[in-house]
Amino acid sequence: RLNLREQLIKELEIIPLEVVCRNVAAGSLSQRFGLPEGQALPRSIIEFYLKDDKLGDPMVTEEHITAFNWASTQEIDDMMALTLRVNDFLTGTFGAVGITLVDFKVEFGRLWENDFARVILADEISPDSCRLWDTQTNEKLDKDRFRRDLGDVIESYTEVARRLGIMKEMPTVIQGGLH
Ligand code: TMP
Repeated sequence: RLNLREQLIKELEIIPLEVVCRNVAAGSLSQRFGLPEGQALPRSIIEFYLKDDKLGDPMVTEEHITAFNWASTQEIDDMMALTLRVNDFLTGTFGAVGITLVDFKVEFGRLWENDFARVILADEISPDSCRLWDTQTNEKLDKDRFRRDLGDVIESYTEVARRLGIMKEMPTVIQGGLH
C-alpha cells in the first residue's frame, strides 16, 4: 500500500489453479464424502481445482497438474507450503476475534525475475472466498449467506470487518451499493 488510495501491483503469470485449504468439513467436501458440516478434520487438507468456469472448476490431482503442465512439482510444494502458512496466520487472526476459519480458497502466480519464477500469493482473502463461522454459535459470516439465501450478507461481512478492527460502523447502503 502506497497510501490510502494507491497500491503498487506486481504483474504475475497466474497459475490456473484454485487452492482450497480446509480445517472443518463443509461445502463440497461434506457432500463428496458424506461428512456432517462442522466436523473437525483430522488435519488441514489442501485440494487443487482447475480454474475453468465452463467445466465447473473440476478437482484435479498432482498427476493432472504436472502432466498438463499447469504447475511443476516444485511449484505445487511451494503453493502447499504458502497455503499452510496463510492458514496458520488466518486461523490465528480470526480465532482471536471469535471466528472459526472453516476453509478458504487462494490462487497463486509466478513473479518472473530474469529467468527465475517465484510463486507468490495472487488473490484477495475475504468472506467471498472463505468460510467463516462464529466460534460460539457457528453462525455463518461469509458468502454462504448469499449462496444459501440466508440473508444479512452485508451485516455479516460488516461484522467480520468490525471484529478485525477494519470497519467501525455499519456502512450506509444506497441503491444497490456499499458507500
Ligand atoms: P467448496 O466447499 O464449495 O469446495 O468451497 C471451498 C472453499 O473455497 C470455500 O471457502 C469457498 C471457496 N470457493 C471460492 O472461493 N471460489 C469457488 O469458486 C469455490 C467453488 C469455492
